[in-house]
Parts: sequence; structure tokens; C-alpha cells
Amino acid sequence: MRRRAADFRRPPRRRFSVWIWVLLGLLLFCTAGFILLVLKQNQEYQDLAQHPTLVRNGGTLQSAQNKLNLTKETTTSNSYARQLLDQMTLAKAYIVIAKEHNNHHLAWELASKIRSCQFLLSKAAMRDSPMTQNEAEPLIKSLSTLIFKAQDAHYDIATTIMTMKSHIQALEERANAATVQSTFFGQLAAESVPKNLHCVNLKLLASWLTMKELHEVTNETKNSPRLVDNNLYHFCVFSDNLLAVSAVVNSTISNTDHPKQLVFHIVTNEPNYGAMQAWFVSNDFKGSTIEVQKVEDFTWLNASYSPIVKKLTETDFQGYYIEGSKDLNNEPKFENPKYLSLLNHLRFYIPEIYPHLEKVVFLDDDVIVQKDLTPLFSLDLHGNVNGAVETCLEAFHRFYKYFNFTNPVLSSKFDPQACGWAFGLNVFDLVAWRNANVTDVYHYWQEQNSDGSLWKLGTLPAGLLAFYGRTEPLDRRWHVLGLGYDVNIDNRLIESAAVVHFNGNLKPWLKFGIGRYKPLWERYVNQTHPYLVDCVTK
Ligand SMILES: *[C@@H]1O[C@H](CO)[C@@H](O)[C@H](O)[C@H]1NC(C)=O
Ligand SMILES: *[C@@H]1O[C@H](CO)[C@@H](O)[C@H](O)[C@H]1NC(C)=O
Ligand SMILES: *[C@@H]1O[C@H](CO)[C@@H](O)[C@H](O)[C@H]1NC(C)=O
Ligand SMILES: *[C@@H]1O[C@H](CO)[C@@H](O)[C@H](O)[C@H]1NC(C)=O
Ligand SMILES: *[C@@H]1O[C@H](CO)[C@@H](O)[C@H](O)[C@H]1NC(C)=O
Ligand SMILES: *[C@@H]1O[C@H](CO)[C@@H](O)[C@H](O)[C@H]1NC(C)=O
Ligand SMILES: *[C@@H]1O[C@H](CO)[C@@H](O)[C@H](O)[C@H]1NC(C)=O
Repeated sequence: MRRRAADFRRPPRRRFSVWIWVLLGLLLFCTAGFILLVLKQNQEYQDLAQHPTLVRNGGTLQSAQNKLNLTKETTTSNSYARQLLDQMTLAKAYIVIAKEHNNHHLAWELASKIRSCQFLLSKAAMRDSPMTQNEAEPLIKSLSTLIFKAQDAHYDIATTIMTMKSHIQALEERANAATVQSTFFGQLAAESVPKNLHCVNLKLLASWLTMKELHEVTNETKNSPRLVDNNLYHFCVFSDNLLAVSAVVNSTISNTDHPKQLVFHIVTNEPNYGAMQAWFVSNDFKGSTIEVQKVEDFTWLNASYSPIVKKLTETDFQGYYIEGSKDLNNEPKFENPKYLSLLNHLRFYIPEIYPHLEKVVFLDDDVIVQKDLTPLFSLDLHGNVNGAVETCLEAFHRFYKYFNFTNPVLSSKFDPQACGWAFGLNVFDLVAWRNANVTDVYHYWQEQNSDGSLWKLGTLPAGLLAFYGRTEPLDRRWHVLGLGYDVNIDNRLIESAAVVHFNGNLKPWLKFGIGRYKPLWERYVNQTHPYLVDCVTK
């Protein structure tokens, strides 16, 4: 499939390749400026030696930016100026694309927004005080809307740029400069499902709706005693990405001796439910048991029970991006952000979702399993709730990096130097979880953070607090991270890994995932499935 896709797309690629590189150069150039500024601030000159070209390019830019004195502002994590600059970089790229496609109106709209941004930035620079939320928000919102529009109109190219952008962000992260806002952009790109996946979904949904015999099979599964049998090995995956989940399940069963003893518990959302059911019923997964549920059916998970559901339903939390795109009146992905984000938080409700289970292995949808995972179930967690690999080999994965420790509630209870750990492959002892009321602890911290003053986005910080003192470190070969942003992971480390994790924005199902790691994922997707073949060639 991959080869065919490449042939099919070759002509446009060649046509655009020249300016793609020009754009990439431009992006690199701008971001190199930021990296340099931040590095300089942190006195981390050692790292610079590794990127001599970046440094040279950055030098000129730095002098240009000193005039605006954004040095200080853009290095703080809450900087609106930085967010605007990020958006401007993208918007500029889209102007070129839009012009290339004779979409002059869009180009004009983008250009005029960029001018407004520049005006705002220079205003803030002149009065020598940071940009406020009130000033920046309307512009950030309307620019996001436009960027979405542009992305929709010029999808493939947009993917290119967005992934390039996130690639650069990976460099930034290494330079200790990743901020909530800047990664948010890359995240959006990573989460947007490629068009051919959308096509597969629609075809599967059609067969789900027309083929009643599929329903019989799933009805059977629903009532299967295997779902609650604690002598079997239970895995859970929560996702809206069909092929990703399929690759997770397939790689898990392909690397175990007794696939029939494996039970997968998948939770997705309403728009993807039919397609997932149809896929898992109609493909061969070596006799493992696969249950698919949808989060909309969990009526107990409502705003009165869960502060996170409450928060997700409050419109102002849904964010700039989602609100902005409502005007566009399309992009089904963004119509129902509540459940999409809720899928990310389901990991904190596993004992409630599966009241009869005692132990599960939780897998993110962007992992590939390469070894037998059943020994995880007999590991001694020493009474802990969560088994996970620690991530503090590098300084910035310690607690102080994730939280606002000026808050006394936090600083009195947690060690800022405590080691972080990763979601993606976790062994959960659900009995210990229920005994320790971890879900209550999670709710407590979500409520404490209702104003966002303890941490910003994501599920990891909440997890670090909820499982604090209840996490058992696993040997790190169980779970090797970084395949979604780090191009330099040692081959031996990857080969030795039981699970590889494509965390980061360069997901293997995106056209511009890191080429070296893509085959690890692709070998677990049935490339000859008629729907896949159909959707790629049409
Ligand atoms: C920029 O701002 C920083 C901090 O506010 C200040 O120390 C520095 O002198 C300023 N630089 C210029 C060139 O104005
Ligand atoms: C499957 O179960 C649902 C309700 O649980 C029922 O409405 C439906 O008719 C069943 N379908 C088949 C084909 O058995
Ligand atoms: C909300 O959830 C609680 C338990 O979690 C349940 O008792 C209640 O009936 C639910 N409310 C609705 C409207 O479903
Ligand atoms: C968990 O909650 C129950 C009931 O709310 C309580 O009796 C128990 O003491 C709690 N356990 C812990 C470890 O906090
Ligand atoms: C960090 O916590 C302090 C104390 O609660 C609060 O005043 C401050 O606004 C917080 N910082 C951020 C960025 O939320
Ligand atoms: C599962 O992976 C195997 C390779 O290990 C592949 O041959 C097969 O087609 C995959 N199945 C599906 C449903 O993708
Ligand atoms: C891949 O899919 C095709 C079509 O559904 C099927 O005939 C074939 O057996 C599958 N291959 C594997 C290895 O599952």
C-alpha cells in the first residue's frame, strides 16, 4: 500500500518539493532563533555544538528580534506573544500554499491577520509589558480558524508543514524549551486523522449498518464470560483511531504464544463505534476476545460524578481551536471535543469501567508491541497500583517540570525532584487501585486545578499526582519512548523493547512520520484489506 501510495502521489510532491524545502528552511530558521534565545538564557551551550547550522542561522534572526525584545516574553510558558509568533509562522507558510493554488482570498485573509499580529506585537513591545490574554485571544482564535480552513483546503501540504513544524518542536523540546502552547499546534496535526483513514472508517461504517450478521457476533462477545475472567490477560485501549488500535491489538497477539488467552477492551466514541466493531469482527485476530464499547454509553461518567467531565463540558475550556472551528461548520473531529478528550481521561476510570477485573495492562493507541506481554501480569508491583517506566534520566522529566510548585498545596505534598513516569504501557492492579481510592485522588487534584494554576494541559500531570507513591518502576526495556519525535533512538534499544511508543507528533500513520520507524508500525496493518487498497488508490 505504501509503495502504491508513493507512486500515486509522486507528481504533486515533485512539483512542490522546491518550495517545501524553502518553507522548511524558513521554519527552521525562525525556530532556530527561538532555540538559540532559550539556550542562551539557560546557559546550555554544550547542546549547541550538535546543531552548528542552526546556530549560524539563528544568529541573524536574534538580532532582528532583539528590537522587539521578545526574549523574555517568548520564553515563558504562558506567553501569548509566543503563541502568536507560532501561528504567524504557520500562517505565512499557508499564504504561499494558498497562492500556489490560486486561493487568493484565503491568502489575503491570512496576510491581513498577520499584519494585525505584527501590530499587536509591536504595540506590546513598545509599551514594554507582556501581551495580555484579552488582547491576544480574539486574534489567536480567528487566526486558528483560518489555519484550519487552509489545512482543510490543502490537506497534504498542510500535513507536511505541520509535521515539519512539530519536528522542529522536537528539537525545541530537547533544548528544554517546549511550552504548552507551542506543542499544542503540533498535537492538533498529529491528532487529525489522515483522509484515507477517514475513508476506511466510512466504508466500515456502511458495512456495519448493512450487515446484520456482524451484530450477531458482537452480541455474542458482549455476553462472553471471558470478558470478566481474571484467569485471562486483559488489555485496554481507548482511542478513536481505528488503524492505530488495530495495530496495537495485532502486534500484541502476534507476539504472544497464546493469543486465545488475551482479551482486549476497546473504548471509542460514537462516530467511530460502528467502524471499529466491523473491523474487529471481520478481521482475524487469532482467536483473542475483543470487546468494543463507546464512551457515550457510560452514563455514570457524567458531570455530577466527574470533575473532568464537568470541566470538559464547560464551553470556555474547549479552547480557542475548537471554538474557532465551529464557524467552519464542518470537521466532524472538532464537533464533539468533549468525548475526544474524555477518551484521554478514561484511563483514570478503569476500575469503574471494568468492575470485575483485577489486573489490566493499559496501552496507548500509538504503541506497537514487540514481545510477549503476559509476564507483566505476574510482575510483583509490591502493593503499588501502577507499574510504569520512569522517565527522569533527563532532568526535565522530574515533577518540577510539570507543575507550578509556587503553589503551597503542591509543594507541601510532593517532592519537586520526584521522578516522572510514562503512560503508554501501564500495569494496573485494580484491587489496589480501589483500596487506595485512586480515582478519588484524581478527582481531588482535578478540582484543585480547576483554574489551571497547578498544571496546564494533558493527562500526565494528573496521573503523576494520582499515582504518587503508588507507582512501581518497570525495567525500561518494557517501554521505549520517543519514536514520534526523536530521530536518533538507538537501534539496539528499539529491538530490545517489548513496547515501542510513538509519543510525539510524528505519528507512524501520518505521511511524514519518521521513516526509520514507520515499518515497525506498518507491518501490523493488513495492507491488502480491500478497503485500505480502495481508499489509497482513489
Ligand atoms: C529586554 O527585556 C529584558 C527583561 O525585561 C531586559 O532586561 C532587557 O534589557 C531588554 N532588552 C532590550 C534590548 O531592551
Ligand atoms: C443484538 O443485541 C441488541 C440489543 O442488545 C438487539 O437489539 C439486536 O437485535 C441484536 N442483534 C442480533 C443480530 O442479534
Ligand atoms: C451520573 O452518575 C451517577 C453515578 O456516577 C449516577 O448515579 C447518575 O444517575 C448519573 N446521572 C445521569 C443523569 O445519568
Ligand atoms: C476509600 O474510600 C472509602 C469510602 O469512601 C473509605 O472508607 C476508605 O477509608 C478510603 N480509603 C483510603 C485509603 O483513603
Ligand atoms: C502558580 O501558583 C501560584 C500560587 O497558587 C499562583 O499565584 C500563580 O498564578 C500560579 N502560576 C500559574 C502560571 O498559574
Ligand atoms: C496483523 O499483522 C500481521 C503481521 O504480523 C499481518 O500479516 C496481518 O495482516 C495483520 N492483520 C491485520 C488485521 O491487520
Ligand atoms: C488481509 O485482508 C484480506 C482481505 O480482508 C484477507 O483475505 C487476508 O487474509 C488478510 N491477511 C491476513 C494475514 O490477515
